[in-house]
Amino acid sequence: MSTYSENIRKISVQNLIEMKSRGEKISMLTAYDYAMASIIDAAGMDVILVGDSASNVMAGNETTLPITLEQMIYHGQSVRKAVKRALVCIDMPFGSYQGDSKTAVHSAVRIMKETGADAVKMEGGIEIRKSVQRILSAGIPVMGHLGLTPQSIHKFGNYNVRAKEAAEAEKLMEDAILLEALGCFSIVLEKIPAELGGKIAEKLNIPTIGIGAGPFVDGQVLVIHDMLGINKDFSPKFLRRYADLYEVIKIAAERYAHDVKDGSFPNENESY
Ligand code: KIV
Repeated sequence: MSTYSENIRKISVQNLIEMKSRGEKISMLTAYDYAMASIIDAAGMDVILVGDSASNVMAGNETTLPITLEQMIYHGQSVRKAVKRALVCIDMPFGSYQGDSKTAVHSAVRIMKETGADAVKMEGGIEIRKSVQRILSAGIPVMGHLGLTPQSIHKFGNYNVRAKEAAEAEKLMEDAILLEALGCFSIVLEKIPAELGGKIAEKLNIPTIGIGAGPFVDGQVLVIHDMLGINKDFSPKFLRRYADLYEVIKIAAERYAHDVKDGSFPNENESY
């Protein structure tokens, strides 16, 4: 299976903006380690996001809040080493940019310097304006993230669809316009009505990448563990499972344990 922009050697933020202007959809998946990132990159993904969802799917936390800057840098380094073509974007973790813009730029510079990533992602609109501006003025590309912003879970109290009401939808549109005006190169839109996703995509020149934001946005992102069916218990409406790796891995582990127990592994050919 081939991708449209397969002749691009290494995807840049400009390539993503060009994809939007010629109507080519952008594919994005998360990865947190070397092995998975090499497979996803070989599959021709446009963007690999080292998401702070690592806090949930890698570390087993209930929210994304506990993951630290050091842990994000560790995941980022592992992914970056594996990737040849995709644009690598790393989530700025909770607490690394919300306080003041000086801390924000310091955190972003550490991510870029220590991982070799291409960009950072930040959650929020007008509230984080100064931090976004300062990071952009340091020459670091920023991907915005609006709608459901998991780092603010304690403010909202749930993971429900956002911006169903007119006032919230209006604020979201204003935030999206602001992020584009500041210089962000793209925006993730999470769990919002499809119609609103389409309106924002139409209004902006930079790409919008949806997760639960319907088909009218400029690209899609999913968490790799969810789309591979490793997480059995997470099944929101927006998720399409492309594999059932929970069962594949469990059956392989059961067969291995069985063969060890009955002494059939290793056999003569598997011994020195
Ligand atoms: O952390 C993450 O994986 C994300 C995606 C859901 C967009 O932010």
